[in-house]
Amino acid sequence: MTKQEVILANQQYLFPSVFHYFKEPLVVTKAKDQFVWDADGNKYLDFFGGIVTISVGHCNDTVNQKVHEQIDKLWHVSTVFANEPQAALAKRVAEITPGGKLTKSFFTNSGTEANETAVLTARCYTGNHEIVALRHSYHGRSAVAMAATGQASWRLGGPAPSGFVHAINAYCYRCPLSLTYPSCNVQCARDMEEMIRTSTSGRIAGFIAEPIQGVGGFITPPKEYFEIVAAIVKKAGGVFISDEVQTGWGRTGGKWFGIEHWGVTPDIITSAKGLGNGSPVGLTVARPEIADALKGTTISTFGGNPVTATAAKAVIDFIDENKLMINAAETGAYLRGKLEEMKAKYPIIGDIRGMGLMQALELVEDRESKKPDTQATLAVMEAARENRLLIGKGGTYGNVIRVTPPLNISKSDVDDFTLRLDASFKHVTATRMAGAAR
Ligand SMILES: Cc1ncc(COP(=O)(O)O)c(C=O)c1O
Repeated sequence: MTKQEVILANQQYLFPSVFHYFKEPLVVTKAKDQFVWDADGNKYLDFFGGIVTISVGHCNDTVNQKVHEQIDKLWHVSTVFANEPQAALAKRVAEITPGGKLTKSFFTNSGTEANETAVLTARCYTGNHEIVALRHSYHGRSAVAMAATGQASWRLGGPAPSGFVHAINAYCYRCPLSLTYPSCNVQCARDMEEMIRTSTSGRIAGFIAEPIQGVGGFITPPKEYFEIVAAIVKKAGGVFISDEVQTGWGRTGGKWFGIEHWGVTPDIITSAKGLGNGSPVGLTVARPEIADALKGTTISTFGGNPVTATAAKAVIDFIDENKLMINAAETGAYLRGKLEEMKAKYPIIGDIRGMGLMQALELVEDRESKKPDTQATLAVMEAARENRLLIGKGGTYGNVIRVTPPLNISKSDVDDFTLRLDASFKHVTATRMAGAAR
């Protein structure tokens, strides 16, 4: 197919909800490590990684070799038969969960399913029904996951299933309580108690939260946040589900899981994306007594598939053996420094936030009003494409640029990225000034 035929076939044969970035969709034909090529042969530096998924580089040689070997040995048996790759992956995951406390896994195919499984397990364990989630969160596209999601644009199909309430989040740049950290005394976290008392039956099944809200625009709570809310949730009978679909596997630097930066051990962790480096794997891992409460028959035909389980374990081993959690912290700090320099140059950058190799820039019309600048965000995305750089978009107001390169990049890649992003901001700023002068 030609590039044009691909685009036309997409329009004709896919649901229109399968949307693409850019005015003209980018047709990707191949990728290697931190680079992606389009149908015209142009090479791009990929600092988004297929939505925070390429954790160890596109088509990583080590991972791919193990996958190739497994494909020739055993593709599929389903969970009604035991297989070694699933067992080995479950054991490896158990070894690295916070404090080694979450030791039983259930594998599925996506983050959505991982969260479905977590909500179901929390309800079975506690005997309670209600789930507290956060505003500005994203948890997936099933009915339950959309009900947990805290952004209108991702909640399709009318009224959501009952049993979900949303607490205010720790969005310090746009504090929902109009307070300022640290003098706020993290009031947003303390509000959880009143929220449970007034908006639920008082006894909840669980609290689900992303340590850093991904689709929400890398909203990063202050260090006290999770300790305060976790204690309140526990008092109300609920378990704490940490949705690590974006923050897992070293992305935030120095730790396997994002929540470890807040010094809290969750009861359940869910993940997907970076765990498979592109192969479809969803994970729900829980404390054993909680996992044991999910009794009765339930099945995921492809969950723990020998090929995807092989890929996932190879990814974990690669991150470990190549000390990529340390690289994410060090190269992430270097990247953060470059972004702060850019903020000093361009007033449309209102906020820089994130951890490790998970960094975001929130764009505003001016720093006083903080009015979200969605148009500038789209323009920077297009300009970055022209400069052969791929970055992501996010935020409830569509005004956040997300930067999530593979964890095995080097500082020279960051320098390359900085040149390309800086040129993109320069272009957008100059175009605007020319437009204003006209
Ligand atoms: C935090 C979070 N949870 C869950 C999901 C859903 O994952 P999936 O798209 O694999 O179903 C996503 C996807 O972006 C996510 O970012």
